[in-house]
Amino acid sequence: MSRTIIVSNRLPTKIQRTEESLTFQPSEGGLATGLGSIYRQDGNVWVGWPGLFVEDAAEEEYVCEQLSHDSMVPVFLTEAEIRDFYEGFSNSTLWPTFHYFTQYATYEQEHWDAYVAVNEKFCRAVLAQAGPEDTIWVHDYQLLLLPEMLRRERPEATIGFFLHIPFPSYELIRVLPWRAELLRGMLGADLIGFHTFGYMRHFLSAVQQLLGLSSQNGQIEVPDRMVLVDAFPMGIDYKRYVRAAASEEAKMHEANYREALRDVRVILSIDRLDYSKGIAQRLRAFELLLQRYPEWREQVSLIMVVVPSRDQVAQYASLKEEIDELVGRINAQYRTITWNPIHYFYRSFPLEELASLYRLAEVALVTPMRDGMNLVAKEFIASKADKKGVLILSERAGAARELSDALIINPTDTGQLAEAMHDALVMPEDEQVQRMSAMQALVRQYNVFAWTKLFMARLEYSKMKQHTMA
Ligand code: UDP
Ligand code: G6P
Repeated sequence: MSRTIIVSNRLPTKIQRTEESLTFQPSEGGLATGLGSIYRQDGNVWVGWPGLFVEDAAEEEYVCEQLSHDSMVPVFLTEAEIRDFYEGFSNSTLWPTFHYFTQYATYEQEHWDAYVAVNEKFCRAVLAQAGPEDTIWVHDYQLLLLPEMLRRERPEATIGFFLHIPFPSYELIRVLPWRAELLRGMLGADLIGFHTFGYMRHFLSAVQQLLGLSSQNGQIEVPDRMVLVDAFPMGIDYKRYVRAAASEEAKMHEANYREALRDVRVILSIDRLDYSKGIAQRLRAFELLLQRYPEWREQVSLIMVVVPSRDQVAQYASLKEEIDELVGRINAQYRTITWNPIHYFYRSFPLEELASLYRLAEVALVTPMRDGMNLVAKEFIASKADKKGVLILSERAGAARELSDALIINPTDTGQLAEAMHDALVMPEDEQVQRMSAMQALVRQYNVFAWTKLFMARLEYSKMKQHTMA
């Protein structure tokens, strides 16, 4: 039977070291939460890094054994690889470049060498798992070279690639010293997927300008093969979020929060710590709301969840300081004995608690500077059983291409964002219900199962087309 081998840098389970043992927890981030619901089907396996440095062979064996019960195969990274491949090339070169933060990007030959070496390591790990009939599905920017490496070893293999972050304009890609190698790496796949047509167009233009390969209807002719490129906006496991929001546990948490907050209305934001998410700008906009509309003081609080992420990378560490400082300053200026403007949590929450926050909030603020898709926006929508609530969404999140019934804003326009918060808080209920119903219908239909099915069907089509052309 043919299986799908899912490959991504981060496994859906992350292991952390406590003083006396290793703990296994669900990973955060859209790739892991989104695909977490589909990979267990049909004997599939997921190959990836479990998120910690493993100290000895005995520990390695223990981790392999534990993860195998859940169809996961770990790829272990050394401390140097974590520094140069993960924190280095992946998150200090590619992440900032692809999110239009080139001022944060570094270009280190050592980081590139580690990137090549770790992609080769993943290649060996995948080849050890994949039979000739299996489909290999590679995910995200940490593994851009892997499709071509796999193709060299297995010319006939069925290989899909999906990028979970934006693909930026050619003008940004051309800055990278290793731009041609990266594009060629991706072109090892039979099908390359992006969240939006915009990202796909940027990719095709980069391939044309840097490799001289033209395309027609999303088909690129590479020597002796045809590669298909398409847009597949990723969805969520809709029912999982409906169920979580309806659970007794979520209701209990919501009741506790509600009691503590009394009748204060709630605006919610949930992100990983990341400069791409626009967290500091959002705080400034909330401050502006309190300045412009003093009537909201003591009436509205912002609950802000920031999940720790990549904190060994300098820009992330300094963003954390900036957020701490901003929250401290705004709270100190506006708080009263009985009201806190911002409830700030720097940690992750289990699903039912996230669901209780989605239930509690009247307004969700999803205001990234750039975001491939943003699944938090979709999770908020799925959690609103009574269809009340307003989503404020950045025009630069992939999700904005689909969720046109949100209040769409430019995240750098602090004034517009403050006004959108005000508009959301005074929006009549029937308008909320009308907008939410339309968004729910869309998010329910284009869920993660539909997304996978569509991608797999296109991948199969791509293979078929190659055979008829051969
Ligand atoms: N998330 C989580 N625990 C938390 C907060 C968030 O698992 O405490 C999840 C959230 O539910 C969502 C994912 O992290 O599924 C974030 O995905 P998104 O696409 O919004 O952004 P990314 O982190 O991938 O950039
Ligand atoms: C985004 C990326 C994923 C990544 C996740 C969490 O969703 O697209 O590839 O896994 O962030 O980041 P981390 O560095 O912790 O894996």
